[in-house]
Amino acid sequence: MAILEIKNVSHCYSGASKPALEGISLKLESGQHSALIGANGSGKSTLAKIAAGLLQPTSGDVVLTGSGDFSGWHGIGLLLQNPDEQFISSDVESEIAWGLENLALPLDEMQRRVKDVLERFELADKKELSPETLSDGWKQITNLAATVAMQPQFLILDEVTAFLDPYWKAKVSAMAAELTESSGLLWITSNTREVLSADRIFLLHEGRLIEEGSPDEILRMDHLEEMGLEPVPDWMWDEVSR
Ligand SMILES: Nc1ncnc2c1ncn2[C@@H]1O[C@H](COP(=O)(O)OP(=O)(O)O)[C@@H](O)[C@H]1O
Ligand SMILES: [Mg+2]
Repeated sequence: MAILEIKNVSHCYSGASKPALEGISLKLESGQHSALIGANGSGKSTLAKIAAGLLQPTSGDVVLTGSGDFSGWHGIGLLLQNPDEQFISSDVESEIAWGLENLALPLDEMQRRVKDVLERFELADKKELSPETLSDGWKQITNLAATVAMQPQFLILDEVTAFLDPYWKAKVSAMAAELTESSGLLWITSNTREVLSADRIFLLHEGRLIEEGSPDEILRMDHLEEMGLEPVPDWMWDEVSR
């Protein structure tokens, strides 16, 4: 089921000489692991912010088609690429609780969710620390924990692995399946190696949606390098097919 539909969206930042996005149309489905790839500057983060309602497109529409407990933008969780853009609270635990308070959850449910993500994301010993004092990697994990705790209907992760060490890169990548099941997932990256297991890939180049398809269809395209993307090495394909 489509949960979010982007219809002919274009965006031009004020003062910019060319649009960051032009005529983008795509559907994001619940229960699907979608991926958005493209080189630096191709418009991925702009599209993420528009999809999550943080940025108004210059033209076009974003239609939320999900239903249930969450109405409107509450149902869309976005992890921003820059972890420092996200913090509001003075300690990790309140940062996680803050989003839940906005959902007006019963207190015991809120406490249960906070405890659960503190454990799952190995943050229990950091819960009293100020997010600002953490390393970029831990900042991103704190943001991820806070976003996951809200149990959004759809989750958008913008370059979530960028600041993570190999342990967390592997751990968060392995969570993709779980997160897809509990919501739907849009995994945004410029690294083709991270999207081999996606159900569907959208390829962005200079603000335009060039192609969408399966990993096989997109990642084996001849002209990936011309678009600033690295082809996936053969041994990685072998691992996926095993
Ligand atoms: N706040 C902004 N103001 C002006 N231009 C911006 C802003 N954010 C991004 N851009 C420009 O929009 C284009 C797309 O950027 P972005 O969406 O961040 O791409 P990506 O996430 O793929 O690297 C780039 O040319 C970038 O310089
Ligand atoms: Mg970006």
